[in-house]
Amino acid sequence: MSDRFINDDGAFLIDPMPSQPQLALCHGFFVQHSKRGKGRAHGLKALQNQILHELQYDFAVCTVDGSNEAQKKVLTRAGWRWLASFINRKTGSHTEVWGWQVS
Ligand SMILES: CC(C)(COP(=O)(O)OP(=O)(O)OC[C@H]1O[C@@H](n2cnc3c(N)ncnc32)[C@H](O)[C@@H]1OP(=O)(O)O)[C@@H](O)C(=O)NCCC(=O)NCCS
Repeated sequence: MSDRFINDDGAFLIDPMPSQPQLALCHGFFVQHSKRGKGRAHGLKALQNQILHELQYDFAVCTVDGSNEAQKKVLTRAGWRWLASFINRKTGSHTEVWGWQVS
């Protein structure tokens, strides 16, 4: 079952890893198009971290396109770290896997 979060700035989804509910799969993160470039992603990511904590996850992962410098800044400031990269067979670009030890 997916947890769906949406507010005036944007949205994101959190799913438990099947058979390993301590691990959160975070995806679908976006800031509304009209609100981008105003620092809203930092706030939205901080909210996601807070919710991961409240939901008592132990670790969280997400993927991000290697060229998405804005999202990588957001992840870095929120305490997430790069874990691995692989070639995306659909796009041919690099997909990165990032993780956060929930604290
Ligand atoms: C990525 C996204 C969430 C960023 O949202 P945003 O509200 O525009 O981001 P912010 O204004 O909070 O900026 C975040 C940081 O990225 C930087 N940034 C913004 N656009 C950038 C770009 N094109 N290149 C490099 N850095 C960029 C900002 O300067 C800021 O850095 P700083 O805090 O060090 O100054 C938004 O563009 C989005 O929803 N994109 C489509 C969906 C998506 O890519 N989601 C991520 C899936 S993993």
